[in-house]
Amino acid sequence: MHERTIIEPFRIKAVEPLRFTTRAEREQALAAAGYNLFALAADDVLIDLLTDSGTGAMSSEQWAAIMRGDESYAGARSFERFETVVRDLTGFAHVIPTHQGRAAERILFGEMVSAGDVVPNNTHFDTTRANVEFQGAEARDLVCAEGRDLQLDAPFKGNLDLEALEATLRGPGGPGGPGGPGGPGGQGGPGGPGGQGGSGQDAQVPLVLVTITNNSGGGQPVSLANLRGVREICDRYQTPFFLDACRFAENAWFIKEREPGQQDRSPREIAEEVFRLADGCTISLKKDGLANIGGVLALNDPELAARCRDNLILTEGFPTYGGLAGRDLDALAVGLKEVTDPDYLRYRVRTAAYLAEKAWAAGVPTVRPPGGHAVYLDAGALLPHIPAHELPAQALACELYLEGGVRAVEIGTLMFGRPGEPGPPGEPGQPDLTAPHELVRLALPRRSYTQSHVDYVGEVIAAVAARADRLRGYEIVEQPRWLRHFTARLAPLAS
Ligand code: F0G
Repeated sequence: MHERTIIEPFRIKAVEPLRFTTRAEREQALAAAGYNLFALAADDVLIDLLTDSGTGAMSSEQWAAIMRGDESYAGARSFERFETVVRDLTGFAHVIPTHQGRAAERILFGEMVSAGDVVPNNTHFDTTRANVEFQGAEARDLVCAEGRDLQLDAPFKGNLDLEALEATLRGPGGPGGPGGPGGPGGQGGPGGPGGQGGSGQDAQVPLVLVTITNNSGGGQPVSLANLRGVREICDRYQTPFFLDACRFAENAWFIKEREPGQQDRSPREIAEEVFRLADGCTISLKKDGLANIGGVLALNDPELAARCRDNLILTEGFPTYGGLAGRDLDALAVGLKEVTDPDYLRYRVRTAAYLAEKAWAAGVPTVRPPGGHAVYLDAGALLPHIPAHELPAQALACELYLEGGVRAVEIGTLMFGRPGEPGPPGEPGQPDLTAPHELVRLALPRRSYTQSHVDYVGEVIAAVAARADRLRGYEIVEQPRWLRHFTARLAPLAS
């Protein structure tokens, strides 16, 4: 076949109109939103790259599956179909549906993690970190050295630093070598959800997490070799290994493309092997589940699974629907099969690379190489005149919206920073504790936008980059206790 342009591997059967706004309308909308793009009405956004989560387009087969949905409260056929697909893909014995990824995280950590524990990960996504910290534990990021160098072009920058993992497991902060706390489910028993079992004792590592692809580290993949290494270390220290596998299909595609010896395998075969290296996973199915809602906790340990199901019933619902409708489970059962289609994954990964090339052409540095689901603009490098505590990445995100109605998300000090110490009454406090990088993520919804939409976004980036030196920072005027980036209100700083 003719292969110069990698085209969208679908044609469009239903369309949703976009609403165009003027710059004056966008200025008004942004001010009313407290300069927080999460507070904008979607109607005021032209191209929405806030997230790739739950924003994709379903296929005709998925819409057909919706009509097969069995809405029985218990034992629905939809659950059986979903369970079969998840079991075939992952190999895990116990399949627990949840309404989205963070519910799976809350339930798993509620049962496994105690106050004072340490949970290693390559890089915790924000909800994952918040759910670990909510249990009173430390969420420790151990991404490999290449992953911390934004500009370095390396194939597997999502890899976990295996030496650092081993050091964490050896302690202090670890179980002290082989023979430490038991296998899957060893933690969290007596203390129960939110239990205090670990406080006052040496820190324990109740589980090791690896996020594929590493979203907060730039959407970078993790290699099969690295995952095998994690398995081997977890075996030696008898510590359960869980995947945060939201983007397992994109990770499998990168392994196929980049890892020696993997070229002739299908993404599906690779994904199956990856899941079988772990003891369980949490997945937000709003990503590679190719549907608009859903999550799953899947694992092998029967005793831990039983406790998680009990916990699930408290907030999510009966174990055969877990906060989802039967029709959602059916859409997911189809999506989880479609997502490993090589034609889809080739187009998907190419789209992100194409957008990154537009940014580079405009002189805007990005995390390299581009991730699978998103392009991460390096606002810290583009806007050196705005210090981190004045939120340069938020400044860039706001400007992309004002320029062209493009909504992106800040991944920097607004998301990961902490308020500094307050000052004495009437005096300003310390500046924010800043994040290691100041990025703007342009996340690509699955199968929703066409190449000309991506071209347009490239033009908006170029227009903003041309006046980068005139952009100004922001201050936070109101913020909540947890996950402040969702609801904080900001104000632009005077020049
Ligand atoms: N883990 C990772 C790596 C994620 O990217 C997300 C969500 C979650 C867990 C939580 O899943 O939203 O279904 O509860 N990421 C979205 C994003 C929100 O925009 O990157 P959820």
